[in-house]
Amino acid sequence: MSAPSMTLYHNSLSPFVRKVMVLLHETGQTGRVALQDCVLTPVNPDLSLNEDNPLGKIPALRLADGTVIHDSRVILDYLDHQHVGNPLIPREGSARWRRLTLASVADGIMDASVLVRYELVLRDPQKHWDEYLDAQRDKIRRGLALLEKDAIAELTSHFDVAAISVACALGYIDLRHPDLEWREANPQLAAWYFEVSQRPSMLATMPKV
Ligand code: BEZ
Repeated sequence: MSAPSMTLYHNSLSPFVRKVMVLLHETGQTGRVALQDCVLTPVNPDLSLNEDNPLGKIPALRLADGTVIHDSRVILDYLDHQHVGNPLIPREGSARWRRLTLASVADGIMDASVLVRYELVLRDPQKHWDEYLDAQRDKIRRGLALLEKDAIAELTSHFDVAAISVACALGYIDLRHPDLEWREANPQLAAWYFEVSQRPSMLATMPKV
């Protein structure tokens, strides 16, 4: 096998990075990407990442020609154009907008979950902003409720951009916010997640604390 031609700024705990890794596994492209691990928080940046992505966010992907692309949505779209199997992001039609909208719900759940995590671990406990934490947790609960009510059949039908994004969001909640106990309120989503968690792509990308 030839050497990897691309480099991914990577941290196994980031749900946004995990989406990219799952897509690489699902599309048989893991050998094309070298991983550059970075440890960062909003107040402890990775300086070499900042040179490639001024926003200092992971994932970012350096392509063979040196171009750097981000964020995770752009990277998924790029990588989905680099394999010959069925696209994991529908190329056109109403399916495209629906699947991307479900993926956007999942991304919003991840955003809120990471913000809660940062507030809890980076800020002095005496300064925790409870209204803000509650608002972010409410956002997570509303997003999950929508998926439970409207999207189970769609998630079950294809393991594509929507399903990958939701699975990675749930994996991150389990990792960082087990106190949310999301399964009780969302039993169909829990059953779906139990199934997809067994996929080789999900097992290979389990966050390592
Ligand atoms: C975490 O440790 O929870 C984390 C790490 C990197 C990006 C986002 C979250």
